[in-house]
Amino acid sequence: MRPLLSTALDGLGKGAVERSGPLPAGGPAAVTELVTGVGDVLPVDGVGAQQALAELTHVFSAGAVDPADPSCAAHLHAPPLAVSVVADLVASTLNSSLDSWDQAPSGIAVENEVLQAFARLVGYHPTRASGCVTSGATESNLTGLLLARDHALRPASPAKAGMRNQTAPRVFCSAEAHFSVARSAGVLGIGEDAVTTVPVDDQHRMDPQALDSLIAEAVAAGDKPVAVVATAGTTDLGVIDPLPRIAEVAARHGVWMHVDAAYGGGALFSERLAPLLNGLAQADSVALDMHKLGWQPVAAGVLLVRSEELFEPLERRVAYLNTEDDEDAGYRSLLGRSLRTTRRADALKMAVTLRALGSRGMGALVDSCHDLARHAANRVAGHPNLELHRDPVLSTVVFRYLPVRGDANAVNASLRRSLLGDGRAVIGRTEFDGGVQLKLTLLNPHATEAEIDAVLDDVVAAGDKETPAS
Ligand SMILES: Cc1ncc(COP(=O)(O)O)c(C=O)c1O
Repeated sequence: MRPLLSTALDGLGKGAVERSGPLPAGGPAAVTELVTGVGDVLPVDGVGAQQALAELTHVFSAGAVDPADPSCAAHLHAPPLAVSVVADLVASTLNSSLDSWDQAPSGIAVENEVLQAFARLVGYHPTRASGCVTSGATESNLTGLLLARDHALRPASPAKAGMRNQTAPRVFCSAEAHFSVARSAGVLGIGEDAVTTVPVDDQHRMDPQALDSLIAEAVAAGDKPVAVVATAGTTDLGVIDPLPRIAEVAARHGVWMHVDAAYGGGALFSERLAPLLNGLAQADSVALDMHKLGWQPVAAGVLLVRSEELFEPLERRVAYLNTEDDEDAGYRSLLGRSLRTTRRADALKMAVTLRALGSRGMGALVDSCHDLARHAANRVAGHPNLELHRDPVLSTVVFRYLPVRGDANAVNASLRRSLLGDGRAVIGRTEFDGGVQLKLTLLNPHATEAEIDAVLDDVVAAGDKETPAS
C-alpha cells in the first residue's frame, strides 16, 4: 500500500492547495465540472490504480469542504484526528466484520473494550452494561427506540411477532429533539404521529412537569408510553434537557428513558462540562457520536444500554454466523446487538484515539471548542451589526446579521450562500420562531480566536454586500 498511500497524500495536498480555503469557489456547477472532468468512472479498460487514485483524490480534495479549515463551521462535522484516520485505514485493510467471530476476532474484543470505556464514562456498570458501535446517532436512536418498544410491549416482541393487537405505543420528546427520533418511530411502526412533543422552558429544555402530565394523559387514554427521549446537546443550541428530573418522571411511570447525547456526550470528557450531563447514568439507553465532539472520521456512533439482556429483541441464531455451540465455546459474535449484519470495526479508530489522548487529552479538545464558542458569542454580542440568539452551552453559536434595511431573513439566507459560492466560509443556517438564524458549530480545537474573528468579519462583509441598496 505504501506507493498508493504516497499518491493519495499527494492528491490530497494538491487538491487542498488548489481549493485554497474551506471549500471551492463557484458552487455546485463548478464542483460537478471538476469531478466529471476526470472522465468516465467506469471505462471499459481501467486507467490503473496509480492514475485513478491520483486523479480522483486530487479532485475529491479540491472539491471538498475541509472541516479542518477554521472557516468551516456549519455542522457537527468534525475535523478528524490524523491518528484516527490512519487507524480507520487499518480497519479497512483487514475488513473485519463484527457479525461473526471468524471475521473479526480482534475487532470484537476491541469493540467490547471501547464500549466498556464508554459505559464507565456514562456511569453505567461497566460489565453489566452493553452496547454497539453504530453508523451514527440516527442508527443509535432507531435501535434504542426498538429496544424500548419491545421492552414496553412484552411479552410479544414486535421485532419478532409484529405489532398486531398492541395498544397504541407513544414516544415523548421535546420539540428540539433530532428529527431522527420521529423518523425512527415511523420506521418502527409506532408512527411519527405517536411522537408527542413536550413543551420546553425559556432555555429550550424539556419541561419535566409537562412530560409528567402528558404521560399521565396518554395512560388515561389507554395508550402505552414506550419511551421518553431526552436530548443532551440539541443540534442547534447544544441545550441539555434536565436529565435527573426526566429520569425521575420516566421511572415513576415505568417508561424507558433514551438519551440522545450525540452532540453533548463528548462533554463527558471535560471536567468543566461533564456535570451538565448528570443523570445520564439513569437512562436505559444512550446515543453518543464520536464523529462529533470526538474527532473521528465518519462513522463513529455508539449505542449503550444499561444492561446486556435488553438486546434480546435483536438476538438471532443464524446457521452460517453464530451457532449456539460455537457461542457456548466462547466464539461469540456481536450479531445480536445491531440491525446491521456486515459491520465495520469502527471501534478500532476510537480505541486508538482514546488511548493516544486519554480522557484528559479529549477533555482539553472539548474545552478548547467551548472556549472558542464563548469567544465568538462575546464578539457577536459586542458587534453592532450582529445579534446573539443566546449564550452557547457547548460549542455552537446561533446569531444573525442585522441589515440596516431589507428583510433580515432573506439577507441572512443569501449572505450564507454568498460565502459558500465565494469559497470563503461554511457557516450554518437554522430557524427559530420563524426567523432565519446563522450558526457557528465550532469543532476545530486548533482554530484560533483570530481565525474565528475573521469568519465573523466575513459574515458582516457578506451581509453588507447582500443588504439591498436604498
Ligand atoms: C442531537 C442529534 N441527534 C442525532 C443526530 C444524528 O446523528 P448522525 O448524523 O450521526 O446519524 C444529530 C446530528 O447532528 C444530532 O445533532
